[in-house]
Amino acid sequence: MATPPTIYVLNGPNLNLLGVREPEIYGSETLDEIAGALEDRARELGLAIDMRQSNHEGHLVDWLHEANAEGAKAVILNAGAYTHTSVALHDAIKAISVPVIEVHLSNPQARESFRRRSFVAPVARGSIAGFGPLGYQLALDAAARL
Ligand code: DQA
Repeated sequence: MATPPTIYVLNGPNLNLLGVREPEIYGSETLDEIAGALEDRARELGLAIDMRQSNHEGHLVDWLHEANAEGAKAVILNAGAYTHTSVALHDAIKAISVPVIEVHLSNPQARESFRRRSFVAPVARGSIAGFGPLGYQLALDAAARL
């Protein structure tokens, strides 16, 4: 049987703490629980997901390159705080041809002013923010239709 198209789901700093980290903002679901639900939905869509998390900017850059080199169908990226600081992620997304969908659990536009700037958004195919874990599902549905 042919291997299903793969969606890389890349998560940045502090997202390993989901479930205990500021639950009033980020909710009570853990990243593992989000991954489980995403795997179920991916199976329904005939896709495979490769879910990863790192607190290190360079890992995210390497994984974007890898997703491109491996011919991933799309990347779903929650870059966490690097969203607001990382020229390296901006450049990496620009350097690859695989479409990147930006996701945030919270709505950064409705929070502190330093979160209003995204270095990812201008080079992403699209952005989904403010819907909690549902945002990952919406991004997967979007990725399936690209
Ligand atoms: C976040 C929003 C960012 O501003 C923040 O730094 C995060 C999480 C979100 O998913 O809402 O770490 O990306």
